[in-house]
Amino acid sequence: MPGDRDIIPPNVLHAFQRALFIADQETARHAARVGAAAAALGRWMGLPAGEVRLLRAAGILHDLGKLVVPQEILDKPGPLTADEWVEVRRHPSVGADILLAVSADLAPLADAVRSHHERWDGSGYPDGRAGEQIPLAGRILAVVDVFDAVTCTRSYRTHTLGELEARALLVAESGSHFDASVVRTYLAVRATTPTGQTWRRPESGSSARDPALVEATR
Ligand SMILES: [Fe+2]
Repeated sequence: MPGDRDIIPPNVLHAFQRALFIADQETARHAARVGAAAAALGRWMGLPAGEVRLLRAAGILHDLGKLVVPQEILDKPGPLTADEWVEVRRHPSVGADILLAVSADLAPLADAVRSHHERWDGSGYPDGRAGEQIPLAGRILAVVDVFDAVTCTRSYRTHTLGELEARALLVAESGSHFDASVVRTYLAVRATTPTGQTWRRPESGSSARDPALVEATR
């Protein structure tokens, strides 16, 4: 059974985590939550232990490439210009390139990081991969990343969603942005948490253009 060392050497992971924390504490905390949630989802799905460890590391490092994006762009309130979007959209491939520069052995981890902004319908970035061309780790990261992003307050975001609104957003985007089977499983996992509330499916398309999603998918 593979250990963490087989996914990424612990000192390398800690060094990157430290760099992310120094650059932006909010983003580093978000990344830690995404890593924990992705690993929990992987365990729930019955994935092998090595895949669960990869999900944890990929969650922690999914925005590693943002280290090269100017902080004033990342923190900019409101919409980004076309040129600023170009800068932001470099981050998945930059993060993957950094990991591959450490070792070619990190290729599965790098591919998960590279693919976390791909979309099920092929309209994501950087490669426009669709459906199961996107590695499962990337499809899982997409779901847990957006859920955490839209439910947590960030300096550049004007809309923060509650638990039920965020669940509705995932449903509205199933089959377009997200792998519907990953969403179903994630919602089942979250349904086991004691929110004390009942979740209802929203009217079709009601949340598809929610500003929170646009901002969260930077
Ligand atoms: Fe990202």
